[in-house]
Amino acid sequence: MRVLVVGAGTMGHGIAEVCALAGHEVTLVDIKDEILEKAMQKIGWSLRKLSEKGKLKERVEDVLGRIKTTTNLAVGAKNADFVIEAVVENTDVKRDVFKVLDENCREDVILATNTSTIPITDIASATSRQDKVIGLHFFNPPTLIKLVEIIKGEKTSDETLMKTIEFAKSIGMDYVVVEKDVPGFLVNRINLRVFTEALRLVEEGYKPEEVDAAARYRLGLPMGVLEVVDFSGVDVVYYVMNEVVKRGVKIKPSKIIEEMVKEGKLGMKTGRGFYEYKGVYSRAKIPKSLAYKVNPLRLIAPAVNEAAWLIRNGIASKEDIDKAMMLGMNYPRGLLEMADDYGIDAIVKMLEARKNETGFEEYEVDPLLKEMVDANKLGKKSGEGFYKWNYEKVEFGPVIYEKRHNYAMITMNRPDKLNALNEDMWIGLNKAFLKAEEDKDVRAVVITGKGRAFCAGDDIAVMGSWRKFTDGKEFLEKVASPFIETLMRYTKPVISLVNGYAFGGGMELNLFFDIVIASEEASFAVPEGLIGALPPIASTLGVALLGRKLARYCLTGEQMDAEEAMRLGLVDVIVPADQLEIAGVEYADKVSRLAPLSAKAIKESMRALRETFRASLDVGMHEIIELIPTEDFKEGMTAFVQKRRARWRGE
Ligand code: NAI
Repeated sequence: MRVLVVGAGTMGHGIAEVCALAGHEVTLVDIKDEILEKAMQKIGWSLRKLSEKGKLKERVEDVLGRIKTTTNLAVGAKNADFVIEAVVENTDVKRDVFKVLDENCREDVILATNTSTIPITDIASATSRQDKVIGLHFFNPPTLIKLVEIIKGEKTSDETLMKTIEFAKSIGMDYVVVEKDVPGFLVNRINLRVFTEALRLVEEGYKPEEVDAAARYRLGLPMGVLEVVDFSGVDVVYYVMNEVVKRGVKIKPSKIIEEMVKEGKLGMKTGRGFYEYKGVYSRAKIPKSLAYKVNPLRLIAPAVNEAAWLIRNGIASKEDIDKAMMLGMNYPRGLLEMADDYGIDAIVKMLEARKNETGFEEYEVDPLLKEMVDANKLGKKSGEGFYKWNYEKVEFGPVIYEKRHNYAMITMNRPDKLNALNEDMWIGLNKAFLKAEEDKDVRAVVITGKGRAFCAGDDIAVMGSWRKFTDGKEFLEKVASPFIETLMRYTKPVISLVNGYAFGGGMELNLFFDIVIASEEASFAVPEGLIGALPPIASTLGVALLGRKLARYCLTGEQMDAEEAMRLGLVDVIVPADQLEIAGVEYADKVSRLAPLSAKAIKESMRALRETFRASLDVGMHEIIELIPTEDFKEGMTAFVQKRRARWRGE
């Protein structure tokens, strides 16, 4: 096939290279010979790189031999079979080029444009073959990003669409179809939402690093959002944004970007944008410790809203949206898959909050998202969102077990009793954990408490009711110990979301969990000594795992906040309360990327370590059984219920 590429700039030379690599004969056109020479040099350089890496099956010269250059568009057009226009982004220039193409190309030849912002229909109307004009939008650099958006103009025929798809395939490109000629098409439309929100966060006073840390370390994007803006060019983003706004897309432009353009802070190419660069491309330094400053839903909620608009208006399918963001922007997962992970309800809540805070129309929740929430299509947490997920819900007494496709969510649900550990809670937890363990699909377990508390510990009402030594002994042996044994031997990663109080047993359970994420409002304590008992796990396994510092808390019952618990090594991550659940979702995703057998092997190894402290744990359990029949134990329970200080007799 003979492909004509018009415009030999940033995009044109890359497109020509891709076509030649695919075996097509290429004619590259520009207005000056120097530009064409430069373009050929760049192509040569790029081909030699490929060759050095062993990625080229033929000689560099052979590929170069398939590319001819000319400054005469009319002549170049004569024997073309397919045309891709990539000249400057200017409607008049493009229309002139299309007129010449129309006059000189064979009647059946498709004329594709790589425009980013100009309506395909406006360009097509300069020709007498509007049915054969189509958008073929590449990404920079076309040699690396193997995706094109194929955009139908108002008059583009289905045949043209089919042939363009065939052409895209012939040059090794994956593609998505954009059914209507909307400003920004698919990827830019979604990107602009993410960019705008990132810019607003900076306007609010967040550092670029804080915004990008959320993007990189939580959404898992390969580059931070503002890094991408710097890479693409602040001016380019500003230009595209203004163009789509002019064409009616509701975005209130950010002031920051305008100022940056005025000051010449255009990103990498000028050495300064949101970050500083020294000549060459370099990654911005973004500390992991900043990951929880910005809620990642801020960045993706407007994007998901935009995606919903595209779907509802029949412009793109959900599959194409996900494919486009993965191939075009290197998202680790589809945008809508992420939305299903986080929960459509959470996305909607974020949009509503932003609407309230700003009054901006652009945050108006798309009717599709509203419908989804009304129909309980919330994503993984309800079994269906944009996609279908394996979902199962079982209640084991006060414990809710939910299988959310690849992880299990276990919720202690006795909020009025601060999720205290009564018999039903112990048994329910054991059943839920065992169920998760048996299910092959479940790659991680997430546990949390409903209401104000994670778990306020052993239920005093139950302990207070023990009259005889045997009551307590039986409870511990038959009710509590089986769950402790389950946790000792557990083979799946457990992520704990400590939402509030984690006292006594409620704190001690966390010593068995692998990743403990605490809300800023969480507080921990092992105050059992104050009621005549002891914390059997904290004072044995806990001290062994976390060190002597825990002794102070066992011996005083003092409370510690999330920060102190983190210093102690009990808590791994602290997040704002409203981000706790999504942080759990993110960690469940991270953990489920491990090979299941590796996760199991890691857990088995840790179990072996715990087993070495078995004797001390047994002592702890024995000690509590010994304390149950004492007078002081009875006094401790009574004083606690009466909210007074206990009078110890040492008996
Ligand atoms: P560029 O400025 O690097 O290249 C444009 C080239 O067109 C220049 O070499 C110029 O001399 C040439 N040109 C101007 N008038 C011409 C004419 N009448 N005949 C032949 N050649 C002519 O621009 P760039 O970035 O390559 O953009 C080209 C097109 O691709 C634009 O429509 C742009 O919106 C689009 N695009 C750009 C992307 C990017 O990241 N740069 C990404 C996707 C699309």
